[in-house]
Amino acid sequence: MEQYQTLEHDVVVIGAGGAGLRAAIEASAAGCTVALVCKSLLGKAHTVMAEGGMAAAMANVDDRDSWKVHFADTMRGGQYLNNWRMAQLHAQEAPARVRELEAWGAVFDRTKDGRILQRNFGGHRYPRLAHVGDRTGLEMIRTLQDHGIHQGIDVFMEMTVVSLLKDGDRVVGALGYDRERGRFRVWKAKAVVLATGGVGKAFRITSNSWEYTGDGHALAYEAGADLLDMEFVQFHPTGMVWPPSVRGILVTEGVRGEGGVLRNKDGRRFMFDDIPDNYKNQTARDEEEGWRYVTGDKNANRPPELLTRDHVARCINREVKAGRGSPHGGVFLDIAWIKEKVANSEEHIKKKLPSMYHQFITLANIDITKVPMEVGPTTHYIMGGVRVDGDTQMSTVPGLFAAGEVAAGLHGANRLGGNSLSDLVVFGKRAGEYAAKWAKEKGAGTTNSAQVEEAMRLALAPFDRGDGGGGGENAFAVQSDLQGTMQDLVGIVRTENEMLRAIEEVGQLKSRAAKVGVSGHREYNPGWHTAIDLHNLLTVSEAIARAAVERKESRGAQFREDFPEKSAECAKFNLILRKGADGQMKVVREPVKPLPSDLQQIIDENK
Ligand code: FUM
Repeated sequence: MEQYQTLEHDVVVIGAGGAGLRAAIEASAAGCTVALVCKSLLGKAHTVMAEGGMAAAMANVDDRDSWKVHFADTMRGGQYLNNWRMAQLHAQEAPARVRELEAWGAVFDRTKDGRILQRNFGGHRYPRLAHVGDRTGLEMIRTLQDHGIHQGIDVFMEMTVVSLLKDGDRVVGALGYDRERGRFRVWKAKAVVLATGGVGKAFRITSNSWEYTGDGHALAYEAGADLLDMEFVQFHPTGMVWPPSVRGILVTEGVRGEGGVLRNKDGRRFMFDDIPDNYKNQTARDEEEGWRYVTGDKNANRPPELLTRDHVARCINREVKAGRGSPHGGVFLDIAWIKEKVANSEEHIKKKLPSMYHQFITLANIDITKVPMEVGPTTHYIMGGVRVDGDTQMSTVPGLFAAGEVAAGLHGANRLGGNSLSDLVVFGKRAGEYAAKWAKEKGAGTTNSAQVEEAMRLALAPFDRGDGGGGGENAFAVQSDLQGTMQDLVGIVRTENEMLRAIEEVGQLKSRAAKVGVSGHREYNPGWHTAIDLHNLLTVSEAIARAAVERKESRGAQFREDFPEKSAECAKFNLILRKGADGQMKVVREPVKPLPSDLQQIIDENK
């Protein structure tokens, strides 16, 4: 029989980006023993890819800002499919979370009078992103890590969790293995918080690194939790496109926030070409007005480069498809042009965007202070995820909480840039607080050794099949084929026929994944790790495609060529995905919860 080590904590947090760290700090502060389990090294998280800042209505740069405007912007960005309670709490609590980070030692850029500086970002009416250059996510992680390591949290690095353990309906722990040696561990817990981030590795072009294989989504789904609105995948408009080895790496929206403009191969600012009706009153009518906005003229309108990400990504896609793109299949993003306006522009750009300068000079031999970058859309974020209660972050499975990207609701059909960092700390804190409360109230459940043994057997099955023998498939080949399917058939522009084909292909890939074999032993075995990731990737891919087929309209991040308009009927529901008694994935429509009148009034006033 397989051996495993058993550890006991009040709260186990799976994932150690911004949400996981913040949840662990809160649960620990509430007096709980806490395990923080991460797939990679502590501090290596997709949080660092939110570079341009953290959205919070502090009104430091424009005193017209308030939580109400932030709430209205978030709801409009999400096309009103958001969990309004989460959008309200997020807008109300984000400023306090920024100040808390500052108190814990985070460094921010400053206004002339010493307040935290805030910059413009797409879809935010006022300059709202507290930032430090273009390294805000990194600074957040550094601060939370520095603070967290003094709280007595037990950190487990380079561990993959393969299954949640249940006692009846309730989650009571997790089974995982260490990636170096392949030895199993059981973490018994009174409450479990998922903070595993997103699913980017289901697509070929992504800003996500290898860890982001939808683990938390799939763990929750298998444990019986509901997933919500999985069709909404965000394609960030600006990722690197050249050279091929760095395709997909993020180019922060902060470049556009600082005045960067998008041009096609003819030098035309194509973003002026079609501005959606609901943004017409807030979008600059010419280049000069856009620049005035960027440089702080409160009466000017935003440049069209700062429309929401879904719209900008589609416009770039259109230019490339029409043959007006850059040499390597993107468009041009130009910040160097500001030399016409700013004295000493090279130093200015290096100060505002130090990482972008460094990234392009080292990876592409491009000096962004002198010439434009080539950029194109990259899979960045999933708005869909584990359905949670807005206040407590508990999923539909008792004892299982979720926060950050793995949780759904706050962003609706499309997330505004910068709302991710504030999401992580607002709801990370709440998840930690309520997981601790649950742990204290409910006490320990019982883990079941038969469940543990079955989960270990499944995890080890690829070794029984061997490498290439007995019909053994290669894990990397299956993963690569899946990425091709999702990129080509469930990408920025979708159609029913292509997505039905994707669902069929995912089914075939599942059969191939069931035959994946690996050779060698468990130590340092990347083929085995990938074989385990496949189950999660296939689960989330199926969920994305099934939900996208069911939503027969274009809304937020989902654009359907066969249904290019929003539909009043589809505005009325969110989509739930859950595992049926027959083991098959079910898609269920759930009516959108009506807004209370006070929140509706805020939206009406801010239209
Ligand atoms: O462009 C960016 O800096 C990304 C920010 C975000 O996704 O929130």
